[in-house]
Amino acid sequence: MGANARGCDVNKRKTPEIVLGVSGSIAAYKAAELVRLMVKRQWRVSVVMTPSATRFVTPLTFQTLSRNPVVVDHLDVPETWMPEHIALADRADVLAVAPCTANVLAKLAHGLADDALTATALACRAPLVIAPAMNDGMWANPATQANVETMRARGAHMVAVGSGDLACGRVGEGRMAEVADIFAAVEQLVG
Ligand SMILES: Cc1cc2nc3c(=O)[nH]c(=O)nc-3n(C[C@H](O)[C@H](O)[C@H](O)COP(=O)(O)O)c2cc1C
Repeated sequence: MGANARGCDVNKRKTPEIVLGVSGSIAAYKAAELVRLMVKRQWRVSVVMTPSATRFVTPLTFQTLSRNPVVVDHLDVPETWMPEHIALADRADVLAVAPCTANVLAKLAHGLADDALTATALACRAPLVIAPAMNDGMWANPATQANVETMRARGAHMVAVGSGDLACGRVGEGRMAEVADIFAAVEQLVG
């Protein structure tokens, strides 16, 4: 009971831990609200950001909302001997990437691990929720669509993008899903 597809029995743990990856999209500000909802739900939340994401929202925002340190540079000297991205990967009951840029999606699909977020994701055995966010051209690009299919085939939970006004001024498909829908996708995995 409670064991998810990747063999993680979330019922055995008092407080589920969500590792939230935030990448360099204009939708990064919405991840702050996602963290707030998760903390309100009494989950432990650890945020890992790409360096690009820190240009949109500061780590201080996520650190304050999550009440936990934020990881940006996986090559920083950690407080313990354990590399930070491995510690995060091992602790995660669910890894959610929201917003997930076209770039991070491509890295996930191809197994790249050159920043804290993608290194954590590659090491992580927990269920993966991906909420893409990008311009309509990036979203429609066959490379992106192939990456989506790759991740889906590997069992990642893809949260459908929305359609409408995009930050670039265009109208089209590629908006990050509503925060409530991303929260629901994670909640379903936490149980
Ligand atoms: C204002 C602005 C908004 C952007 N929004 C997005 C976005 O929503 N999705 C995306 O894939 N890239 C977006 N980009 C481009 C990414 O920031 C860029 O590809 C970056 O290298 C991504 O880094 P990361 O994937 O390591 O976070 C945006 C760039 C700018 C300047």
